[in-house]
Amino acid sequence: MGLLSTILTIIAFGASSVLANNDALQPYTIYAYGINATFIPYGARITSLYVHDKNNTPRDVVVGYDDPAQYVQDTATNHTYFGAIVGRYANRIKNGTFTVGDTEYHVPANEHDGENTLHGGTMGYDARNWTLTQYNTSSVTFTLLDPSGEQGFPGAVLTHVTYTVTSPPRLTTRIVSVSLDDYTPIMLSTHIYWNLGAFQSPTVLNDTLHMPYSDRIIDIDSILVPTGGLSSVKNPWQSPSVPLNFTAPKQIYEGALYSQQCGEGCTSIDNAFILDRPPYSSAEDASAPVLQMTSADSGITLTLRTNQQSLQIYSCGGQNGTIPVKASQGNGYVEKYGCLVIEPQQWVDGINHPEWGQLDRQIFGPDSPPQVLWASYDFSA
Ligand SMILES: *[C@@H]1O[C@H](CO)[C@@H](O)[C@H](O)[C@H]1NC(C)=O
Ligand SMILES: *[C@@H]1O[C@H](CO)[C@@H](O)[C@H](O)[C@H]1NC(C)=O
Ligand SMILES: *[C@@H]1O[C@H](CO)[C@@H](O)[C@H](O)[C@H]1NC(C)=O
Ligand SMILES: *[C@@H]1O[C@H](CO)[C@@H](O)[C@H](O)[C@H]1NC(C)=O
Ligand SMILES: *[C@@H]1O[C@H](CO)[C@@H](O)[C@H](O)[C@H]1NC(C)=O
Ligand SMILES: *[C@@H]1O[C@H](CO)[C@@H](O)[C@H](O)[C@H]1NC(C)=O
Ligand SMILES: *[C@@H]1O[C@H](CO)[C@@H](O)[C@H](O)[C@H]1NC(C)=O
Ligand SMILES: *[C@@H]1O[C@H](CO)[C@@H](O)[C@H](O)[C@H]1NC(C)=O
Repeated sequence: MGLLSTILTIIAFGASSVLANNDALQPYTIYAYGINATFIPYGARITSLYVHDKNNTPRDVVVGYDDPAQYVQDTATNHTYFGAIVGRYANRIKNGTFTVGDTEYHVPANEHDGENTLHGGTMGYDARNWTLTQYNTSSVTFTLLDPSGEQGFPGAVLTHVTYTVTSPPRLTTRIVSVSLDDYTPIMLSTHIYWNLGAFQSPTVLNDTLHMPYSDRIIDIDSILVPTGGLSSVKNPWQSPSVPLNFTAPKQIYEGALYSQQCGEGCTSIDNAFILDRPPYSSAEDASAPVLQMTSADSGITLTLRTNQQSLQIYSCGGQNGTIPVKASQGNGYVEKYGCLVIEPQQWVDGINHPEWGQLDRQIFGPDSPPQVLWASYDFSA
């Protein structure tokens, strides 16, 4: 175990004895002028985020449940991953199989009748009870030690997730993961479902989406597993010819109601958009906004910056009006296209595509730098 790892472990468990109260469903709220956000240790997840709309009315703009116990029930039934951290490896792994060094590993293939792994296996980070390790009025940190061999992954991984709010209204997420004793894939993400209109309208179809650097998508097969191919959104496979071209602002319906590049029998957006950074900036440049979304109803604009190499965007095509919205959001249900999930992450299943040149950003050992996911969300109206 390296010195850094040892220190981090001591910090994690020293602090846990001070802060832990063993209630994974205890809400913790952080505040800054014009914003507040609430989290629970179960999945280190966000459960609400209030910002002000164009009329200065506070709106809760994330999807979730009122009663934290419902997240546990959700995991066992619909398994939406509402607001959770997903890992140790977010998104899909083909056949639940990958190779590190000379060893082939098999992890639980928990989706599509055993054809792929989704979000880290049957017991992903979204279903773990994280430890509260730091908490003050504007910032909260949750820590997880994922043991070696858990879900079939090699090596122990220690992760700290810090959420901070600042003014003008901004949420910052910072995820730092360290491999303690072996080489392993590490790719975490946040799985926040947004409805910036706080469900004044049942869908986000009229909202405007802009992803200036999303020139390419990762090609997928009928179960959303990468084929290895990469396509330009400006030169797509089928007509109408431009559904996934959000390089200039356009309304979400122009993509979600026309694109069928989201798995078999589906019309929606559920794609990994590659962030082709501006020329002359570094690959990890986090200064330029990579996504803007504006609600037609509330006038709230979200502006995202991140150091990650892609954005998985999901327009809630799988929702069907069976899950009620929170009391703060009225008395409707989460309908098809009722939300947009934005997952800043690395290239999905890059561990099975060395030809993409992404392994240095996805495989980590005890002598590697930590895996760091940084993202900020600015809100204005
Ligand atoms: C967050 O702000 C909203 C709007 O002002 C308020 O209704 C809510 O009670 C706040 N949350 C907490 C936990 O204080
Ligand atoms: C709605 O979706 C849930 C889970 O995604 C599913 O179990 C349920 O059968 C669906 N209901 C309808 C009416 O399609
Ligand atoms: C697919 O996964 C199964 C079960 O883990 C494994 O036995 C098989 O070797 C894998 N196939 C390929 C092509 O990786
Ligand atoms: C996590 O906490 C929830 C809520 O208390 C509980 O239902 C669940 O069993 C716990 N999970 C584990 C793995 O301890
Ligand atoms: C809260 O904790 C964070 C992270 O340690 C720190 O940066 C910040 O200054 C603290 N804020 C207050 C108000 O103590
Ligand atoms: C979208 O906008 C159109 C035109 O203003 C309106 O007719 C429609 O009801 C809106 N749809 C939603 C889901 O808000
Ligand atoms: C994609 O959007 C850009 C920016 O508006 C535009 O220049 C380009 O023509 C569009 N491409 C296609 C194929 O629609
Ligand atoms: C999905 O969520 C709804 C609403 O919370 C719930 O009634 C239902 O039992 C859940 N499970 C399935 C499989 O639909």
